Amino acid sequence: PGAARHVSTGHLPSSTVVQALLDEAHDRYAGEDSGTVADYIPVLAQTSPSLFGLCLVGVDGTVYSAGDAQQHFTIQSMSKPFVFALVAQALGHAAAREKLGVNSTGLGFNSVMAIELNEDRTANPMVNAGAIAAASLVPGETADDKWNFIRAGLSRFAGRRLDLDHDAYTSEAATNRRNQGMAYLLAGYGRMYFDPLEATDVYTKQCSLSVTVTDLAVMSATLADGGVNPVTRERVVDADVCTRVLAVLATAGLYEHSGDWLYEVGLPAKSGVSGGILTVAPGKGGLATFSPPLDSAGNSVRGQRATKFLSNRLGLNLF
Ligand code: DON
Repeated sequence: PGAARHVSTGHLPSSTVVQALLDEAHDRYAGEDSGTVADYIPVLAQTSPSLFGLCLVGVDGTVYSAGDAQQHFTIQSMSKPFVFALVAQALGHAAAREKLGVNSTGLGFNSVMAIELNEDRTANPMVNAGAIAAASLVPGETADDKWNFIRAGLSRFAGRRLDLDHDAYTSEAATNRRNQGMAYLLAGYGRMYFDPLEATDVYTKQCSLSVTVTDLAVMSATLADGGVNPVTRERVVDADVCTRVLAVLATAGLYEHSGDWLYEVGLPAKSGVSGGILTVAPGKGGLATFSPPLDSAGNSVRGQRATKFLSNRLGLNLF
């Protein structure tokens, strides 16, 4: 999608170039109409397929956006890197790896087989099984304590108080038997660290936090900025936690398509079934896209195209 115009120099191009490229990415891919809106969580099926928003936040706190940047949607799997960050911060990144695993499964995000095939019965915190295990490790005696810790922590990443989308939570909680089953399977292997049903419920709530693409860009800019939110200037996690989160994102952020993603985009990223993708350009900024139609692995079609275009034209590729 267009030849590279900027090589990676350690800085974003000028603000005029960044805004123009965001607008161009929006115009280029708004007409792309392939992909399917997720419907295995009933409430998601009601989302308009034409919504399309982009936001980039630099590590200097500058915010650039195009399209539907203020549209609310549920964070879904894009909560996973931030909950993992909070757990690695609380336990230490070595203990977090030992308990959760950090290797790619090579299988879909809700694969049961992935647990069975891995000798030590861990997955990684970006797929559902590992993310439910991560939720089980969040500090707190009760499920409510853990949920409050997550909500407060993700709100610090976003720089504003994030709230639960009750309809999305109710819809997913009524239909998440597969996640509950995986939580029990992990418990059978000593790889679940709290009551399996309660841990799944905390995880379902974290996935139902309501965000905009602007929130996601601030959250990913915080990872790009070594754990300091570039808008509020608050340190949320340590830099050595951030580097580990980015490593896991590079390995598993787009599930079984993570290799293809790294090959073409060259940046750590995380997708979610609501249609968002957040991408981290370390030392430069955070990019987020929102467009609900997904490909077969559950990744937004327009979001992937727009992010590839911007990584290339902004010179973000790490390699
Ligand atoms: O647990 C689930 O299936 C959803 N709450 C989140 C899955 C998800 O976002 C996978 N993303 N592509």
